[in-house]
Amino acid sequence: MTNMTSHVSMEQLISLCKRRGFVYPSSEIYGGMAGIYDYGHYGTLLKDNIRAAWLKSMVQLRDDVVGLDSAIFMHPTTWVASGHVGGFNDPQIDCRNCKARYRADHILEQFGIVADKMPIEFINTELEKLKAEKKLVCANCGKCDFTEAKVFSLMVNSNLGAVTENLAEADPVYLRPETCGGIYLEYKNTLDSLHPKMPFGIAQVGKAFRNEINARQFIFRTREFEQMEMQYFHHQSQTAALFKSWQDARWQWYLDYGIPEEKIHWYKHEKLAHYASDAYDIEYNFGGLGGFKEVEGVHARGDWDLSQHSKFSGVDLNYFDEDTKERFVPHIVETSVGLARLFLMFLDNAYREEDLGEGDTRMYLALHPKLAPIKCAVFPLLKNKPELVAKAREVFSVLRQNFMCEFDDNGNVGKRYRRQDEIGTPYCVTIDFDTLGENPELLDTVTIRDRDTGTQERIAIAELESYLSSKLK
Ligand code: GAP
Repeated sequence: MTNMTSHVSMEQLISLCKRRGFVYPSSEIYGGMAGIYDYGHYGTLLKDNIRAAWLKSMVQLRDDVVGLDSAIFMHPTTWVASGHVGGFNDPQIDCRNCKARYRADHILEQFGIVADKMPIEFINTELEKLKAEKKLVCANCGKCDFTEAKVFSLMVNSNLGAVTENLAEADPVYLRPETCGGIYLEYKNTLDSLHPKMPFGIAQVGKAFRNEINARQFIFRTREFEQMEMQYFHHQSQTAALFKSWQDARWQWYLDYGIPEEKIHWYKHEKLAHYASDAYDIEYNFGGLGGFKEVEGVHARGDWDLSQHSKFSGVDLNYFDEDTKERFVPHIVETSVGLARLFLMFLDNAYREEDLGEGDTRMYLALHPKLAPIKCAVFPLLKNKPELVAKAREVFSVLRQNFMCEFDDNGNVGKRYRRQDEIGTPYCVTIDFDTLGENPELLDTVTIRDRDTGTQERIAIAELESYLSSKLK
């Protein structure tokens, strides 16, 4: 009888990610950079699979959403129109004693005070109350000696000189803080070239950059990250129904990829941006981050974005509905999710430790097979038997044409299983002497072992591809 635990700490995940080539701290040989990470071989594959799963549900399986890949650099006025220049700030406080830096709103939240997007005066008043009660203590050094909160711009600037020759006079060219800006700017080109009928959406995946004050939660909050955003353009009268249908579609996506319903919930924003009519986040219960944290937002943004870009560019962004003969600025329902947050969520959810008794523990990642970096590993039973190795290589070279596979002949089969378990490989195929005909009835058959149950079955090599295809559906 085995005993299973699925709770995982952030330290365990960080260690697994580094040890098994999922995620590395960036620039480590130079001492690293806070809030910046690199993705190794298995991390890249997992990220690719999550991105593909999102694109499949958002574009491939829909008639009403098209794709886009807009540039990271955009005309500086974009971010004036959107309100980011001057308005995209977080409140920051510093510990005078040890110089640790904190998001003041996050500190207040620990005391049950909702401070998200509240004015700096409110934040300072609340902080003063906590200081007076001696409740405000630096998590790093234990002292209670903080500066006043001040606003800190999250925009990341560059010295790109594309807009004017004279850099000193130029508006700064920012690295985009969110990917949706490119969608608004390409709304008109999309309309003119593809002629989608309203309502329709534009989806894109790409890098975004934010000068985050407190980037200390591994890949949960980083300064460079990938967003997957979709803006759904529609007539105002459709907002309520569309909002609900996008909420349902996004919720179902999490369930489809193995997230249990009890580990996610909707968080309703009480304080909305002045243009928004509704805003909900999907929050996931991260074991290692102490509870439910935002993963994805579904927000009704009104006609703010296109109206602002129309105003600042002077370009008419109205839509003319041929059926109703109505001209209007489309309203938008947005879905926005961070790829790295999904990555962390899927790892957190998949982490398992199985107590096999006598001090032996099996660690494995119960990732959805579609998300697993490697779908199938192929082993020769023994490394020093050329006929086994040759047959295993033959099977491997066929399977790898259609599946991300790995060949492993290092150590004994038990160790190879453990290595594949740690990276979440759902199936391992072993070529043994029966495959070669030692038992004539088993000629050209292999064992295939299931990651989650550890059980093995024997199937014909000729059936391997269809077996894997059916399991990976
Ligand atoms: N266009 C709307 C927008 O950008 P957001 O709530 O700021 O809204 C959307 O970001 C999603 O992007 C978040 O739910 C989160 O998954 C991800 N995200 C935001 N900031 C992030 C960061 N610093 N690191 C990693 N992911 C981040």
